[in-house]
Amino acid sequence: MLQYDRFDPSACAFPRPRVPALPPLDRRQLGPARAAPPVPRRHFARGRYALGAAYRLTGVGPTRSLLAPAYHCRTMLDPALVLGAEVALYPLTPELHADLDGLRRVVAACRTPPAALLLTHYFGLPREVEAVAAWCREQGIALIEDCSHALPFTGASATRAAMGARGRYAVSSPYKFFPCPDGGWLWAAGGAPLPPASPRGPGVGAELRAALQALRACSRGPRPSLLDAAAAAIDAELTALAVQPAPPGRDWRETSEQPSDEYRPQEQAIRGLAVSRGIERRTDLQALIARRRTRYGQWLQAVDALPGVAPLFPELPEGVAPYMFPLRVFDPAPLFHPLKRMGLPIWRWDDMAVSACAVARAYRQGVFHLPCHQALDDAQMAWMTTLVQAAARRA
Ligand SMILES: Cc1ncc(COP(=O)(O)O)c(C=O)c1O
Repeated sequence: MLQYDRFDPSACAFPRPRVPALPPLDRRQLGPARAAPPVPRRHFARGRYALGAAYRLTGVGPTRSLLAPAYHCRTMLDPALVLGAEVALYPLTPELHADLDGLRRVVAACRTPPAALLLTHYFGLPREVEAVAAWCREQGIALIEDCSHALPFTGASATRAAMGARGRYAVSSPYKFFPCPDGGWLWAAGGAPLPPASPRGPGVGAELRAALQALRACSRGPRPSLLDAAAAAIDAELTALAVQPAPPGRDWRETSEQPSDEYRPQEQAIRGLAVSRGIERRTDLQALIARRRTRYGQWLQAVDALPGVAPLFPELPEGVAPYMFPLRVFDPAPLFHPLKRMGLPIWRWDDMAVSACAVARAYRQGVFHLPCHQALDDAQMAWMTTLVQAAARRA
């Protein structure tokens, strides 16, 4: 049974983020429809349900375990728990590659033989896959590539080969990149069988509601950002916050064999919306990739030589579309609270299963996931980077 380290910020009453963490739809992102990638895929409502299908297909269940990375969000483990499987967490290096020696030790301690290993390409940057794939082949374990943070089937051929081409199965989470309400893809490599079809659609009502929302978002156009990125204004707000103490939030450990509330079994057999697939096909891919890369570069510049923080991945390989900008924060609490109180969108994996991996323990609260998506405007970007700089210098 897994134990989880959890963090509940509800007592902190953080305000709503002033900038969206994922790209909202606006008409500037759309263009002529592209052809679908020439790879057979199955469509789910979210990546987690696509993962569930991959786990089932590879035999994960009561008698066969899943090897999952120690740095994770709960939705990566949930589908294996729903199948009644043991989940064993393998350690990672500080760059979030699989630690192969640690992996061998974890396998030796498994109660049930592993059926599959999940390898995640964190934040959209390819992680080392060749050695892990070779080890999996040797052991008769299915490799599943988690491309939920990546934009598969795009970019240079080297990028395409580096993510989603080596695993028996791969999954992705298109709504993290495209301005669409849902989606989860499953595909196979090397002729592995896919489920005969995608699950059934979500129904006419759901499609109509989603289509209406999309039409409204496109007719409205992008909302102008009213953020004041002047360093003096941000500094004054931080000073005002500093004199009003706020509760720290609740940190605790618990044991559970249940999946998290983020996994809804009633959604696992429902296909993603056709509206989402329409938005994906009409999204201007080249602009999306270029804008994300620019924003990532701006984050790199903004945090360069800033005290107490460092980019987790200081190099962005050519052609890669980053999902978010991961910022390593060495003493997280003094930075997390003022930034969240100011309305900075920060995601963290602070609800995580406990493992022996020191990297996962440090990154659980000490890596902030910051937006770098294509819909950010210059004012939002300037406000976020100036705020992080001001807060880091104070902390
Ligand atoms: C690395 C990773 N894998 C899988 C998932 C599950 O994706 P989805 O939200 O589409 O279910 C997530 C969710 O954030 C994720 O971050």
